Amino acid sequence: MNIVVKNADELSRLIAEEIIKVVKENKNPVLGLATGSSPLGIYANLIKAYENGEVSFKKVKTFNLDEYVKTYEEQTYRYFMNENLFNHVDIDKKNTNFPSLDNYSHYDEMIKDNGGIDIQLLGIGGNGHIAFNEPNTSFDSLTHVTDLTEKTRSDNARFFKDISEVPTQAITMGLKSIMNAKKVVLIATGKNKADAIKKLIEDEPNESLPCSILKKHPNCTIYVDEDAYSLVK
Ligand code: GLP
Repeated sequence: MNIVVKNADELSRLIAEEIIKVVKENKNPVLGLATGSSPLGIYANLIKAYENGEVSFKKVKTFNLDEYVKTYEEQTYRYFMNENLFNHVDIDKKNTNFPSLDNYSHYDEMIKDNGGIDIQLLGIGGNGHIAFNEPNTSFDSLTHVTDLTEKTRSDNARFFKDISEVPTQAITMGLKSIMNAKKVVLIATGKNKADAIKKLIEDEPNESLPCSILKKHPNCTIYVDEDAYSLVK
């Protein structure tokens, strides 16, 4: 696992460059995308590169990591992706995929049929979750329906009117689904991620810390700012 420590703007720029490289180098690029506040700077850089004519998303297929089970249209992760990336570039929305109650049992198969994910983007939860794989999710998990922990619901409540509106369930790629990606990049910024990043770097892989599975990935880089890195010895 490689570690890059830079300020948040620099991290977003570097990861956007990695994604653009994948899009340019592959005939049929497949991106694994993430939601949350962490990837917003990356998506802004991708939009800028598209507007400058540096990259086209016409041939790109995307698979998002996760989706809430029951929520208002404006709170769905599809809506988030449309607003923050897809509506601003030349991607064909038919090529953008999200796990759902209808497709989750064959979501991993769909990814495989499209050649597998070339680069998977990840954020991280304060409790070390990736996608919505909460602590003690099996390292062998594929895409599944999951209950959200109270920690995750309260972390994400800032996007809702109040915590009672935060869904209690989500559909998420599993940890094995994420490990199947050819390359993984994780971004973490801010003090509220410092504890998870310290454990990720210092502990052995164990199921109580979902992100720790990434230590077993042959091509994974974590991009952190000074705050997120601040507790590492
Ligand atoms: C949610 C998403 C995760 C994301 C996490 C962190 O729980 N399911 O994929 O990594 O939030 O979000 P943020 O980047 O806003 O801190």
